[in-house]
Amino acid sequence: MLDPFAGSGTVLLEGEACWVDTVGVESHPFVARVAKAKLSWHASHREFLNYALAILSRAKRMTGITDGYPKLIEKCFASDSLRKLDTLKRAWEEENDGLPFSELTWLALASILRECSTAGTAPWQYVLPRKTKARTVDPYEAFEAKVILMSSDMSMRRLRSLSKRARLLQEDARSCPSLPDAWADLVITSPPYANNYDYADATRLEMSFFGEVRNWGDLQDAVRRHLIRACTQHVAELNGKTNKMLSDPLLEPIREEMAKVCTLLEAEREHHGGKKPYHTMIAAYFGDMARVWVELRRVTARGALVCFVVGDSAPYGIYVPVDRWIGELALAAGFKSFSFEKLRSRNVKWKNRKHRVPLHEGCLWVEG
Ligand SMILES: C[S@@+](CC[C@H](N)C(=O)[O-])C[C@H]1O[C@@H](n2cnc3c(N)ncnc32)[C@H](O)[C@@H]1O
Repeated sequence: MLDPFAGSGTVLLEGEACWVDTVGVESHPFVARVAKAKLSWHASHREFLNYALAILSRAKRMTGITDGYPKLIEKCFASDSLRKLDTLKRAWEEENDGLPFSELTWLALASILRECSTAGTAPWQYVLPRKTKARTVDPYEAFEAKVILMSSDMSMRRLRSLSKRARLLQEDARSCPSLPDAWADLVITSPPYANNYDYADATRLEMSFFGEVRNWGDLQDAVRRHLIRACTQHVAELNGKTNKMLSDPLLEPIREEMAKVCTLLEAEREHHGGKKPYHTMIAAYFGDMARVWVELRRVTARGALVCFVVGDSAPYGIYVPVDRWIGELALAAGFKSFSFEKLRSRNVKWKNRKHRVPLHEGCLWVEG
């Protein structure tokens, strides 16, 4: 089984539970590290707990330093919390050997940052430094609770006698040279949607804390260039190249329809303050997805079954039939058929709606 957009590894862990050889591909460096750490679940949960609690004890004996962190981090934490988080980070760094216990401890520390922050955050959400929340958690308490939770989760997974057959490749789904031809029989994945969600910005808090990026601008080079272009921030410099992108031979089966939608989007943006280049984003997104299908054709066996969990979108209220276009691109790459199984409706509640186009989400089944 293959998950070309493995994220934090849900499909990989389920593959292990089913004793299926499973490979995940994830190109976001931070997210790939999360998935790899989760695959270390089979390390001894008791030894992990002792290791992590020893790091906590060492941290408590250290003096935290708050200088030198990026501005975002200064804005998101009270100084006492940041001092404690800094001691945890430095205590972890002293022992860091890249092996499972140290990676799991890194994961525990990464995963408490939002709970300890005064900024408006939730898992996978962009950080809102100007929005503050009343309740934050003490970093030492949060860290202790997290490693206890992880250790108990690891012990329960062991009871389910999972195999150790999943691995994660930090590669790009548009080209994954480590995967042999015709390797996968089954592909299960949830790709980025064409809905302007920025996976790079979504991890800015964590990457800033660990010193992997200093500012918003660093995200382009450190993260976005590895990702499917699914947000307007990613295509800012391509504005004006939309027609050139539409002439990509791989887009042939959907070019005419796409060109019409892109023209509407380009005209519509003039009526909106943000003037977002959705027309460029849509052209880039489907160009990237076309490449993904060519690569998926290479790495899947004849007769393979593919499931893409995907949703359609309507930027500025202009409908983009994402699942059908992705299906057409799959056929162009050499798959035999596609069908869409709707799982739920989206954008049908009246509150907070930017437009009233009903949307859906479901499984795009591709065979061949
Ligand atoms: C909807 S999420 C997948 C979530 C996943 N099912 C999970 O359980 O965490 C899509 C993922 O695709 C990743 N991604 C985006 N572009 C990629 C690319 N070119 N190659 C591989 N992964 C990519 C994103 O970083 C994100 O983690």
